Amino acid sequence: MRVLLTGGAGYIGSHTALVLIERGHEVIVLDDFSNSSVEAVRRVEELTGSPIRVIDADLSAPDPATGSGVGPAALAGVEFEAAIHFAGLKAVGESVRQPTRYYRTNLVSTLNLLDAMRENGATKIVFSSSATVYGDPQHLPQDELHPVGVGLTNPYGWSKAMNEQIIRDAQAARPELEAVLLRYFNPVGAHPSGRIGEDPSGIPNNLMPFIAQVAVGKRERLSVFGDGYPTVDGTGVRDYIHVMDLAEGHVAALERTMPGTTAYNLGSGTGSSVLEVVRAFETASGREIPYEIVPARPGDVAEMVADPAKANAELGWRTTRTLAEACADTWAWQSANPGGYAGGSAA
Ligand code: UFG
Repeated sequence: MRVLLTGGAGYIGSHTALVLIERGHEVIVLDDFSNSSVEAVRRVEELTGSPIRVIDADLSAPDPATGSGVGPAALAGVEFEAAIHFAGLKAVGESVRQPTRYYRTNLVSTLNLLDAMRENGATKIVFSSSATVYGDPQHLPQDELHPVGVGLTNPYGWSKAMNEQIIRDAQAARPELEAVLLRYFNPVGAHPSGRIGEDPSGIPNNLMPFIAQVAVGKRERLSVFGDGYPTVDGTGVRDYIHVMDLAEGHVAALERTMPGTTAYNLGSGTGSSVLEVVRAFETASGREIPYEIVPARPGDVAEMVADPAKANAELGWRTTRTLAEACADTWAWQSANPGGYAGGSAA
């Protein structure tokens, strides 16, 4: 299948590109490189031995010809059967400070993509959604029947929930479209080669890249956001999923699309606390991770854990990699590329 990957140079996009190519699919990467590097695509080419077509374009820009409407001119005449839509802004805190930018980028890019797909006859879309659409957990583990879009606490989360609705409506209006919404829990890890991985710009917002930067000596200590939650050790519990498992989930979803719109959780079904992640990383890296307990981060919930049974049954997919492997692979990537893609590589 020829698959367009919007945001295909990003963290999850680059790993998914690699797995798609290994499974015999053809990949086209569309990215504006605002928070990603062309070096990631180059390394996927190197790992797979396959050249990748890259379209350098901002999917949220209006079509210069019409001012709005049928997506960026960059997609005119580009033929693909399916799209995996990763592109978007993803920093929760920034979304609170810059709501209009987040809504404009994350919603207009989806609208443009759907219009471009209708124009050129593409019939499958897989969307990068998030467990954040579930808001404050009403029950654990969270299955796909959990309420969506209730009491979300930031524009990033709302933009994911709104995009889910936009895709459902677009699918209803175009029955030949098969749509899949993938609700990720907490993606971590890297390709085991250490050649591609997560390369956040500035201070990492997320736990694993922050720990990795402490381990490599870039940051002094981890701030643990709160130890008073009703969890195993008082720190927040999340369902960490290895990015290679996540990438395989995308391929499974793409290969098993069904009529209509279907949502799947992509998670392991197992929760780990912040301190459990710290200890797993210390073991994997052989480095001590100094940390201090600080007040809880506003908007954080105590615990989020996926019920992945639907994806297991319908996609024939399940996670196979452990948190220990995710830490080892993150460490391989971080220690070989302490400056990320821009810093070149020690490999
Ligand atoms: N944490 C720390 N210190 C840090 C960073 C995180 O203690 O420096 C803690 C958080 O409080 C939380 C856990 O580590 O308990 C995980 O935090 P992350 O920021 O890594 O991930 P979140 O669960 O907050 O957010 C992730 C994605 C979001 C998505 C959300 C949905 O990053 O994009 O899951 O659940 F919206």
